[in-house]
Order: sequence, then C-alpha cells, then structure tokens
Amino acid sequence: MSYNLLKGKRGIIFGALDENSIAWKTAERAHEEGAKFVLTNAPVALRMGTIKSLAEKTNSEVIAADATKIEDLENLIEKSEEILGGKLDFVLHSIGMSINVRKGKHYTDQNYDWTHKGLDVSAMSFHKLMQTLYKKDAMNEWGSIVALTYMAAQRVFPDYNDMADNKAYLESVARSFGYFFGKDKKVRVNTISQSPTPTSAGQGVKGFTGFMNYAEKMSPLGNATALECADYTLTLFSDLTKKVTLQNLFHDGGFSNMGVSQEIMEAMED
Ligand SMILES: NC(=O)c1ccc[n+]([C@@H]2O[C@H](COP(=O)([O-])OP(=O)(O)OC[C@H]3O[C@@H](n4cnc5c(N)ncnc54)[C@H](O)[C@@H]3O)[C@@H](O)[C@H]2O)c1
Repeated sequence: MSYNLLKGKRGIIFGALDENSIAWKTAERAHEEGAKFVLTNAPVALRMGTIKSLAEKTNSEVIAADATKIEDLENLIEKSEEILGGKLDFVLHSIGMSINVRKGKHYTDQNYDWTHKGLDVSAMSFHKLMQTLYKKDAMNEWGSIVALTYMAAQRVFPDYNDMADNKAYLESVARSFGYFFGKDKKVRVNTISQSPTPTSAGQGVKGFTGFMNYAEKMSPLGNATALECADYTLTLFSDLTKKVTLQNLFHDGGFSNMGVSQEIMEAMED
C-alpha cells in the first residue's frame, strides 16, 4: 500500500546488496512512496551487479562509494544533488561488516587490524558521512538521517563479537552528531535497532538461526522483517516524525523490553 509519504523527497540509500538487504526493501518502499534517490554501495559490492535491477525498478542511478573514504562520500553527495536536482531530505546508512566475525575470530582473540577495519566500515563511516553532508550543507531543513543498529550495543550477545562495540559507537555518533545537525540545520538523526534479519550480514553471525528463533519466541509480536524495517524507516523520513531525533528506536516486536516469555519458560522446564 502506498500513502505518498515521501512525495517530492530526495535521498541517498546506502547498503542494498541483494534483495534480502534491509536497504533493498527500503529502496523499493521509498520508490512506492514517491521518493527520488541515488543508490550507493562499495565498489566491490557493485561488481556483483544485482543492484542494477533495483536501480531499474526504482528509476534510480547508482554511484559507487566506499563509505570509509571521504573523497568517495564527497563525490557521491555532489553527484546526487546534481542528479536529484537539489539538496537531500533523507539518507539511510545501512552498512555493517566485521572481518573478525567473517573469519571466525573470537572476541577474546581479536585481530586488531580487522577490528579497526570493522569499526571504520560499520561505525566511523556514519560520522564521516554526516560530517561530509554537514560541511557541504547538503541536507534540507527537516531532513532525516537514519542508521541501522542492533541491541548488542546495550546487551551481551556473545557471538555478535566486535560488531557489538561498533554498534555502541554508531549509536553514540547518532546522538552526538544529531545534536549539531539539529541545532544548526534542523535535521534529525536516529538509529533503528532492528530484530535479527536473514540477510547477508545477519547470516554471517555465528549461530544466527538459534539467535533468530530465540528472539522470535521472546517477542510478543515476533521478529520484525526487513520489509517491516523499511516501512518503519520511511516513517522517520516522512514529515510525520519531525521532532523525533537523537533516538535509538527499537524495532523488534517488543524483544528489548522482555524478561522471559511463556514459550521460553516452557522450553526450559524439564
Ligand atoms: N541482519 C540483521 O540481523 C540486522 C539486525 C540489526 C541491524 N542490522 C544492520 O542493518 C544494516 C544492513 O545490513 P543487512 O542486514 O541489510 O545486510 P547486508 O549484508 O545486505 O547489508 C550490509 C551492506 O553494507 C555494505 N558495505 C560493506 N562495506 C561497505 C563500505 N566500505 N562502504 C559502503 N558499503 C559497505 C555491503 O556491501 C552491504 O550492502 C547493517 O548496519 C546491519 O548491521 C542487521
């Protein structure tokens, strides 16, 4: 269903890798809601080629950018403003990567080069992105910037590894930069803390199926899907949430406020 929520709005969407990606679903839904946007991903991800079909479907252009490189971000923002015909109303940061997770390196035995790289890609890139947008004065007043995060920033999920620390940093950057973006440019900045979701990044986490099933059984509404996350993100891009900023918003079927559920109790009884 379409509500024309983003009619006339311009944006940039980072992180659509394949059709399971949360960013992919967000692009499809933003298109349905009337937005115009540029799609971007790291050059290596673009070489896979799948994003072309999303670009065709949503009538959008693709610009390569490694989110850790300032010159790539500058180029992306300049070109996007040209292509879209003005300043931006929304930006989605949907980027995450840990080499320690990918290579099965335990949290107590980190390869710190990989830890640095993961922090840069997953968290510092959000600061770099916002700093570039801010310096270029690329956001319209009452624009909205959203990054995706996970509850391992607040609570322990042992196999989430160094991504937990990256998410804690990401959420802090949203608040700290969100203050300046709010004061100086009337732009809001929030993070959405999403349920475990079967995407390329999600499935890289060890024991992901157990993780997902547990969250499903703990949450009164069940896990939130990628499409539902896309819908929630669109509300934050719309004019209906103008005074929501500096928030970490849980989109998890209620998981984050649960102690225990009936299903988990029953599974534990002998
Ligand atoms: N899947 C889950 O369970 C889950 C839960 C909560 C939050 N999240 C978060 O949602 C976001 C999107 O992940 P997803 O689950 O859709 O997985 P995904 O693998 O589809 O998306 C991750 C994206 O990050 C991109 N990326 C990696 N390095 C990059 C770089 N240097 N520059 C630019 N882009 C780069 C990848 O190419 C990919 O498109 C991430 O921040 C992730 O941590 C995911």
